Amino acid sequence: KPDYLIAPSILSADFARLGEEVDDVLASGADIVHFDVMDNHYVPNLTIGPMVCEALRRHGVTAPIDAHLMVKPVDRLIGDFIDAGASYVTFHPEASEHIDRSLQLIRDGGCKSGLVFNPATPLSFLDHVMDKVDMILLMSVNPGFGGQSFLPGTLDKLREARRRIDASGRDIRLEIDGGVKIDNIAEIARAGADTFVAGSAVFKARNPEDPHRYDGVIEDF
Ligand code: DX5
Ligand code: ZN
Repeated sequence: KPDYLIAPSILSADFARLGEEVDDVLASGADIVHFDVMDNHYVPNLTIGPMVCEALRRHGVTAPIDAHLMVKPVDRLIGDFIDAGASYVTFHPEASEHIDRSLQLIRDGGCKSGLVFNPATPLSFLDHVMDKVDMILLMSVNPGFGGQSFLPGTLDKLREARRRIDASGRDIRLEIDGGVKIDNIAEIARAGADTFVAGSAVFKARNPEDPHRYDGVIEDF
């Protein structure tokens, strides 16, 4: 069985008690914290930045933090997220003037690097940088908001990304983000994903008997 990782997106968490929410999903079986950074420029929404990432580390979160940068330009924030304790830093190729340089900045800072592909962004952006990515993140919605529906065309794209990873012989995670639910995650896994972001599916599924638990949904994944 491949080593599957579940990455709740804190975009759907209660920001007024973010530390507790992150503790709760990790205690309920989550593997990674997916941290969505939006700048009201590259995407039409505004969320959280490096100070919040640092605050989670100070709060005691030791799990990997997966910083998904939906910002333009990206390079300055890459440095800020490295300093703030991110584990993965991923960005959209359209948002970087120099993709190779941005990937190298991430690795030079000791983080794992990744490229993110919007639904209409071709995987050919990977052609010359397969040796510089630790993660490929396919968006299965247009970025900007939680709670959208999974775009079914992403399944073919996942298969193509899986072929590219296998052909490279490299250890690269294949992450999927957007509209992942209990009823489509098996199909998404069969198409080749090994790392699953889920925002609304996790945070809307608090255990009614124990509001600090999300076990139901994370175990069912
Ligand atoms: C969308 C974000 C996602 C989002 C996923 O731009 O990148 O991580 O939070 O939320 P759901 O799982 O609700 O589609
Ligand atoms: Zn995301």
